[in-house]
Amino acid sequence: MNPAVRVQSLRPSPIRALSEGAPPGAIPMGLGEPSWALPLPARLALAEDSESCVYGPNAGLPELREAVADYFDEAMDRVMVVSGSQGALFALFQAWLNPGDAVLVPDPGFLAYPTLARLAGAEAVGYPMSADFTLDSWSFRQVLDRSPNARIAIINHPSNPTGAGVSAQALGEVAEACEARGVLLLSDEVYRELYLHQRSASLRDVSEYGVVLGSVSKAWGAPGLRVGWALGDSRWLAPAGLMHAYMVTAPARPSQRAALALLRESTVVLAEARTELSLRWAAFSGAFLHHFGYSPAPSSGGFYHWLELPQAGKADPMAFCLRLRDEGGVVVVPGFAFGEGGRAHVRLSFGGMPTDIAEGMRRLAPFWRNL
Ligand SMILES: Cc1ncc(COP(=O)(O)O)c(C=O)c1O
Repeated sequence: MNPAVRVQSLRPSPIRALSEGAPPGAIPMGLGEPSWALPLPARLALAEDSESCVYGPNAGLPELREAVADYFDEAMDRVMVVSGSQGALFALFQAWLNPGDAVLVPDPGFLAYPTLARLAGAEAVGYPMSADFTLDSWSFRQVLDRSPNARIAIINHPSNPTGAGVSAQALGEVAEACEARGVLLLSDEVYRELYLHQRSASLRDVSEYGVVLGSVSKAWGAPGLRVGWALGDSRWLAPAGLMHAYMVTAPARPSQRAALALLRESTVVLAEARTELSLRWAAFSGAFLHHFGYSPAPSSGGFYHWLELPQAGKADPMAFCLRLRDEGGVVVVPGFAFGEGGRAHVRLSFGGMPTDIAEGMRRLAPFWRNL
């Protein structure tokens, strides 16, 4: 018996293929998660004795929804707690897409977006970014105008894979265009609280329209809890909530309690996360300057650096990344994994341990200089 046809639309991610075949001792600079310890409030909450572990409400524990609402200055009925922002994406796509619909996705962009669109029977249509990889509202609107079947559009800022932020003006223009067309706008802001210098704009700074996605996975340092949120009008959230309830019933209760402890201690937890990020950025940018001779531009958020391939690596980026892995001992992610718009770049992560970052850059640099 064959697996269902929809599964055949799933392709193994190049990230997995590259990291699974890595030689012993290879430095993973493709990591998409923080390497610092789980913050103390979450550890204490997970260790706490509990008499019961019942399911709990589908939309999440009320006290957690309230804490999320407080943090983001939203009304509680505009908050849905989900199994990671990935859970929100899956549920929203399943709830709002029909076969033949289109989803506008950033190119380059987070690689789950096109796959989740296909799983809902829809087609992903990439929109190009500006030359510095920020959101270009003019290009976005061009693609929107050419896509009469668009039902969902996704923006992601700060971006995975580029680290680029967004201007409030571009956000406002994109929100206005989507609202005028009745297209559901999803603003993936999962990296927004994890910044080096200044927090980048949120969709909520300029518009009440659409749904904002986030989670405790990055800035709150707890990707394994699998707790995230979707913020927006209940008319968008309710159908997705139904879908999410059939997927998982509700996020795991111990995880929600730990997420609640993290949210309540946000001031301290986020300040520590930014210190950890700065330490890693110092290791990365220092090694970069030393080996490349110039300083890299800091990201607007998250722990990714988007590095242009050397000329010789552009003809076959996968072969280049495999050589870098097998001969150089560093794992990076080829930019084409994030869409055609990423073909000339690789994504480096500075989310790992500072000593690994410095060593990774030492190993990587000759591949840029000597080809
Ligand atoms: C842009 C982006 N969105 C969403 C996710 C999903 O994260 P989570 O489900 O852990 O919230 C990730 C994970 O790496 C991501 O990079």
